[in-house]
Amino acid sequence: MRFDRFMALALYCPGSGYYEQKPDNPGPHGDYFTSVHVGPLFAELLAFQLADWLAVLARRQPEAPLRCVEAAAHDGRLARRILEWFAQHRPDLSRRLRYVILEPSERRRAWQRKTLGPWAEQVDWPGEPADLSDPDAPTWLPLPQHSIAGVVFSNELLDAFPVRRLCWDARARQWSEWGVAWAQNRFVQVRMPDNPDHTRERLQLLTALGLEPPPEVQAILPDGFTLDISPGAVDWWRRAARSLQVGWLMTIDYGLTAEECFQPHRRAGTLRAYYRHRLVSDPLLRPGEQDLTAHVIFSALQRAGEAAGLCTVLWQRQESFLIRIAERWAAWAGGRLPWDPARLRQFHTLVHPEHLGRAFQVFVQCTPGLEDAAMPSKPESSTRTAEAPESKAR
Ligand SMILES: C[S@@+](CC[C@H](N)C(=O)[O-])C[C@H]1O[C@@H](n2cnc3c(N)ncnc32)[C@H](O)[C@@H]1O
Repeated sequence: MRFDRFMALALYCPGSGYYEQKPDNPGPHGDYFTSVHVGPLFAELLAFQLADWLAVLARRQPEAPLRCVEAAAHDGRLARRILEWFAQHRPDLSRRLRYVILEPSERRRAWQRKTLGPWAEQVDWPGEPADLSDPDAPTWLPLPQHSIAGVVFSNELLDAFPVRRLCWDARARQWSEWGVAWAQNRFVQVRMPDNPDHTRERLQLLTALGLEPPPEVQAILPDGFTLDISPGAVDWWRRAARSLQVGWLMTIDYGLTAEECFQPHRRAGTLRAYYRHRLVSDPLLRPGEQDLTAHVIFSALQRAGEAAGLCTVLWQRQESFLIRIAERWAAWAGGRLPWDPARLRQFHTLVHPEHLGRAFQVFVQCTPGLEDAAMPSKPESSTRTAEAPESKAR
């Protein structure tokens, strides 16, 4: 089978896929942790930014309901903390806010309802649950076009989408593809059987994603060079962009640009497997029990969002993004951050370049007319400068 099919089954097979197993994974008892698991501060900082954005819409459209749409809510703890923050600090917005969770799994919806407790009354779960284990099925995103006034956001959603593993054939100067086979009682990675239609389809895909290497790169690309791409993640982003009537689309993730995909140290691709907080060399081991993840290609998202009519307004490291929010929070609170020592420690972990600050990036697009509204940074820092190193969180 193609690798994306294997990955989709390993992560999302109903009842036995990796993300169906445990609500507390990610987390200290799982295989990796995310910013959400550092403590409540991450949610509070995000809520501060979301409130700034929603306040702009609230002023422009005094009657319209406001929406925060979260995808990849997992056990629901980010959602609960954001709703608590709004109720405590921005009751004016909280009253008008509906929180929407995009969750295809029945099981995870149940975890979220449990975590949310009474806050579940402010939350909607649109759409029927769906099986994500077929990567060729239409992208699951049950929001009508132009239906959302607010913010659609996710933390570490797109790195969890199945990837196709394209493999450079230097002699033929074309892409073949890695698949997975069963041999001698174990899964092994093999090149998929090829025909000209497959080759053409891959070329069309790379062209559409802006990922076809220029001829001078093709000339030196070593045989077997692997490119991990997720057409599903880009399609999700395109559909999320179209769901906005007015507002912002934000993802926080680790990733790279099209050019960075072809750097020499990327020759084995960006696919990673994690088990009990360790990087595992074989992604085919223990399907359903170890995490599989790959870098997001932000330039492909940028292209898809802009083609859907959005403007790119921010692309920077988590470090700068959260520091700017903290600065504005301090000004709002009269000059001092009202944080206890635990939150100060959490802030350090979230922004320190050696922890989560540099590995994770924040990418935001918005509908036209909102480009200058409530941005957390000055325009000159809204573009990224250098590639972030590997995440220490996973
Ligand atoms: C890496 S975890 C991140 C969880 C959480 N956001 C955090 O930061 O701790 C990825 C999550 O994305 C969810 N996911 C994957 N594909 C999805 C989709 N199409 N729609 C909504 N959630 C999805 C998975 O079920 C999993 O809960």
